[in-house]
Amino acid sequence: MAQFLPVMKGMPVLLHGGDYNPDQWIKQKDTIWKEDMAYAMEAGVNTLSIGIFAWSMLEPEEGKYDFGWMDEVMDMLDENGIKAILATPSGARPPWLAQKYPEVLRVNNVRQKMIYGGRHNHCLTSPIYREKVTQMNEQLALRYGKHPALGMWHISNEYGGDCHCPLCQHAFQEWLKERYGTIDALNDAWWNGFWSHRFNDFSQIESPTTPDWLGENESHGLKLAWNRFTSWHHCDFYAHEIEPLKRITPDIPCTTNMMGTYPVINYFEMGKLLDRSSWDNYPAWTGTEKDADICADAAFKHDLMRGVCGNKPFLMMESSPSAVNWQPINSLRRPGIVLLQGLQAIAHGSDTVQYFQFRKGRGNSEKFHGAIVDHANRNDTRVFREVCAVGEALKRLAPVCGSAPENKIALIYDWENRWALEDARFGTQAKGYEQTVITHHTALMANGYGVDVLDETGDLSGYKLVIAPMCYMLRGNFAQKVNDFVRAGGTFVTTYVSGYVNEEDLCFMGGFPGPLREAAGIWAEEVDVLPPEQVNSFRYRGHVYECREYFELVHANTAETLATYQSDFYAGMPAVTKNAYGKGHCYYLAARTGVDFLTALYHDAAEEQGIVPVLANLPAGVSATMRVGEGGREYRFLLNPMPEEKTIHLDQPQRDMLTDRVISGDTVLPPRSVLVLTGEREG
Ligand code: GLA
Ligand code: ZN
Repeated sequence: MAQFLPVMKGMPVLLHGGDYNPDQWIKQKDTIWKEDMAYAMEAGVNTLSIGIFAWSMLEPEEGKYDFGWMDEVMDMLDENGIKAILATPSGARPPWLAQKYPEVLRVNNVRQKMIYGGRHNHCLTSPIYREKVTQMNEQLALRYGKHPALGMWHISNEYGGDCHCPLCQHAFQEWLKERYGTIDALNDAWWNGFWSHRFNDFSQIESPTTPDWLGENESHGLKLAWNRFTSWHHCDFYAHEIEPLKRITPDIPCTTNMMGTYPVINYFEMGKLLDRSSWDNYPAWTGTEKDADICADAAFKHDLMRGVCGNKPFLMMESSPSAVNWQPINSLRRPGIVLLQGLQAIAHGSDTVQYFQFRKGRGNSEKFHGAIVDHANRNDTRVFREVCAVGEALKRLAPVCGSAPENKIALIYDWENRWALEDARFGTQAKGYEQTVITHHTALMANGYGVDVLDETGDLSGYKLVIAPMCYMLRGNFAQKVNDFVRAGGTFVTTYVSGYVNEEDLCFMGGFPGPLREAAGIWAEEVDVLPPEQVNSFRYRGHVYECREYFELVHANTAETLATYQSDFYAGMPAVTKNAYGKGHCYYLAARTGVDFLTALYHDAAEEQGIVPVLANLPAGVSATMRVGEGGREYRFLLNPMPEEKTIHLDQPQRDMLTDRVISGDTVLPPRSVLVLTGEREG
């Protein structure tokens, strides 16, 4: 039964808003703040994220707090019925803090000490920084905990990077002690007999450096441990930040804005600490046919960001209502894209459409970044009108709030696997893990299937089809879970370079894919890696498909061979296999294929499992997702991101919530448009 879980208590509506920096306009507050509120009302804005970079305004001198202006802002939001997502300001520090306590400044991996500047750059260990953050967060919680405008806590901003200072080296060594217990265990886990690297003591261990002439950049065990430690360190910092908030305001949910597939933080671990997931979504829309790929990429990231916090409704905390200021080419969003981008988030389970930023600043590096209110300071701009249209749409879609997808397909994307894979021997070129998982996701969505994204720690029960592309590292009890899942009747799909190493990055003995060999019914003997232009092919159900880059030389033991390579010295060897194991099946894809083959394969594999698409026979580029609300009410989102119209077919009449029209049969989706269809669940 679907749960009803709005992201903010007392706000059973979809949220619309963005980052708001009234502190930058403090000297014009009598005019600008009033105008801001009028524009917010007009655009249907009901939430604003405030105080994100306001530390120097909240604590202009050490221990001297100035909350007067923030009191006024909070009151003003409340008077206008706007909920605050109030930030802890740790994402950027005031100059006095860095000047007085240089330990808060990071050291980079070349061991250079940073000087004051920028943002997202605090030392994660520094006891002083942690103490200052606690004091600030405590003040904010005490002062605003009971304020009627407070809806949610926005912890810091886009945590990221790492610090190699002496304090962090020590913290790393302590973390290693905790993980390995003895130095002997660490040496064995890291295979340190190699190059005479056996340590006598944890104090000899230093973080990796990027130029390998400076220090260590080859030890796979060390690099993996540093990645794990850094990710844990961010999670630990988050836990530290929320301690006073949870103590003083236990009912106010906390989140931090994440960044999709950002490699440094294992967001599945971060997600375990969040009340709600939130993320910043900046697709580089082109206005051309390429937007199908841009849309597919964002679709995966929405599913991933929903997945890291248990698939509850999440927040799209930032997006641009127009150009950004940091891409190589900052194009305007074509008309219609702002609505499409916003409703795509809702389609994948977000309960919010938020922007960076509400009002463009007059100066500094983001002065030309897209915003709801431009320097022209008027409401008859194209962007303002488009944002108003989003506000209107969200009001119509209010019943969708709190609903969630109920998907039968799980796709595995695992940060630790990604870290290990980057060091694997197949070539110094990027391994394409992220893009590979996205290609599988795109193929599933091309068939109209909704997808949940999990990592290897996820719960597979409740799914019928589980897909783990390039599942190189099998960690924890993942292999066991997969074997149980298949035995019980599930379908599992995996690919080349899966099951090579264990959690410590040590190769499985006895043949790949290690503990998945029996379920897959194959043995992978070697893997050929070729430049992309050197193509092989295979025939599957009467069609010839190309494969490239990775080609495994696989022996079918108990598996049935569905397709064989057509060329090279391994012509005739299996390229695609299917093995019956217990009550279920395991498919093994020995080579990297395109979305064309994956679309065909997933059509067959999902149909065998009786998985029903949200809508069948989707035209190329069109996507369909579904959320299920109270009483089983279904909300189907159909998106056409393409610059040309597309036609879909509806067997049953359905009501479009955006226009209140009942539609059925052949239905045209204009360029860059969205339909939100609703009906009762059948049966
Ligand atoms: C990030 C930050 C924002 C802003 C935007 C610009 O997402 O969180 O503060 O800098 O980028 O796109
Ligand atoms: Zn540090």
